[in-house]
Amino acid sequence: MSGSNSSSSSGRSMLRTLILVLATTLIGVNSVGATPATQSSWTSALSQVYETTDRLPLPNLGNIVAHDPNIVQHDGNYYLFKGGHHVPIFKSDNLNGPWEKIGTVLDQNSIIDVGNRSRPWAPTTIYRDGMFYCYYTLSTHGKRNSAIGVATTNKLDGSPWNDHGAVIRTGKGPGSDIHPFSETNAIDASFIMDQNSNKSYLNYGSFWHGIWQLPLADDLLSIESPENPDAVQLTFIPNQKIRPQEGSWMSYHDGYYYVWFSQGKCCKFGESEHDFPARGREYNIRVGRSRDIRGPFKDKDGESLVEGGGTIVYASNHGIVYAPGGLGVLAGNDSSRDILYYHYLNTSIGFKDGDAHLGWNWLTYEDGWPEVTTDSAGAIFGIPSWLYLSILLCFWLYI
Ligand SMILES: *[C@@H]1O[C@H](CO)[C@@H](O)[C@H](O)[C@H]1NC(C)=O
Ligand SMILES: *[C@@H]1O[C@H](CO)[C@@H](O)[C@H](O)[C@H]1NC(C)=O
Ligand SMILES: *[C@@H]1O[C@H](CO)[C@@H](O)[C@H](O)[C@H]1NC(C)=O
Ligand SMILES: *[C@@H]1O[C@H](CO)[C@@H](O)[C@H](O)[C@H]1NC(C)=O
Repeated sequence: MSGSNSSSSSGRSMLRTLILVLATTLIGVNSVGATPATQSSWTSALSQVYETTDRLPLPNLGNIVAHDPNIVQHDGNYYLFKGGHHVPIFKSDNLNGPWEKIGTVLDQNSIIDVGNRSRPWAPTTIYRDGMFYCYYTLSTHGKRNSAIGVATTNKLDGSPWNDHGAVIRTGKGPGSDIHPFSETNAIDASFIMDQNSNKSYLNYGSFWHGIWQLPLADDLLSIESPENPDAVQLTFIPNQKIRPQEGSWMSYHDGYYYVWFSQGKCCKFGESEHDFPARGREYNIRVGRSRDIRGPFKDKDGESLVEGGGTIVYASNHGIVYAPGGLGVLAGNDSSRDILYYHYLNTSIGFKDGDAHLGWNWLTYEDGWPEVTTDSAGAIFGIPSWLYLSILLCFWLYI
């Protein structure tokens, strides 16, 4: 076929323009996300201790103040739970907000007499067989006298939940003399269900003694065997006096269970310059994986998590984000990536615990190891976007 006439050549150039537009849109869709903003004023005291990296992407802004956020996807909405008076609940159809407060988990103080009963920490809510379970923590900073309680409801419309009280206790109270409750700290619950057996596990802990896991009873309101809890230790830092690992999460992806946790100093920064820990000792988000829900878990370098291992996935960055932690993972699907969400301090806003904001990033998996990415769509309708781009390129060359 030679000598195309002018009308077919203008048709071809229209087609090419259309392909360009499609390709640009694909690339655009894949790279929405944060671009580094210019660094503003962080104090000179902080610059001594703050390792600024631009290797990691900035967070997508959740636009809500939150410490230890917990997010549940349900009925096309996101429900955010956070530590606070009676455990406030917020709702939005978008992770970037706006968030509307729809109520609290507790309608009065917790029935557990530990810490500040009006202000639980670090809730984790799950949905199972028509019921929501909110595991919450009562404790006091620097003390091991703590409890994880649970409350339930069958609808997230702001109506009252049932408070069932303590699932586990450490320090004082029934069961707290039994190992591992006799040495650990009952804070920061997370939940995981075995993909094959549907058996449920509670992960918790612990600051001084790493993260632990134990089987839950079928009612999910108590542990399976209180006298002999069948607990396994998931993480630990040996040979150190201070072992700040807490805020665990467990996710499942493509044959692996991932244990996530926050390591380092979480809170109480910046009241004086001495409140900043050494570089890299502030909160950061780490992970290890295992094919077995009960471990043992190893990091990317093959180091065991009970020997101090843990691969850093997200940490302070750009001189803007400080001490990210208190995380969770939202499971993706064929057309949408998993999402890592967390709280962080913005160095141009402030360092008080109440300044922490929700941030989030998409996760990609390299050889089964999670990494944060600005590429939102690994796949569209289950087909990776590089395939669409290749097809468009072939078509471009063909016409
Ligand atoms: C307990 O928490 C409430 C908020 O729920 C707060 O107003 C109060 O000051 C706290 N009490 C103590 C003793 O810290
Ligand atoms: C696990 O739960 C799923 C969904 O409820 C169900 O289809 C499956 O049969 C359950 N498996 C076992 C081993 O109970
Ligand atoms: C995948 O997840 C996204 C984000 O939560 C959701 O909007 C979409 O409906 C889901 N798609 C499928 C096929 O479940
Ligand atoms: C940090 O705060 C500044 C000032 O409010 C804002 O412009 C910027 O978007 C924030 N960045 C992040 C990552 O929160």
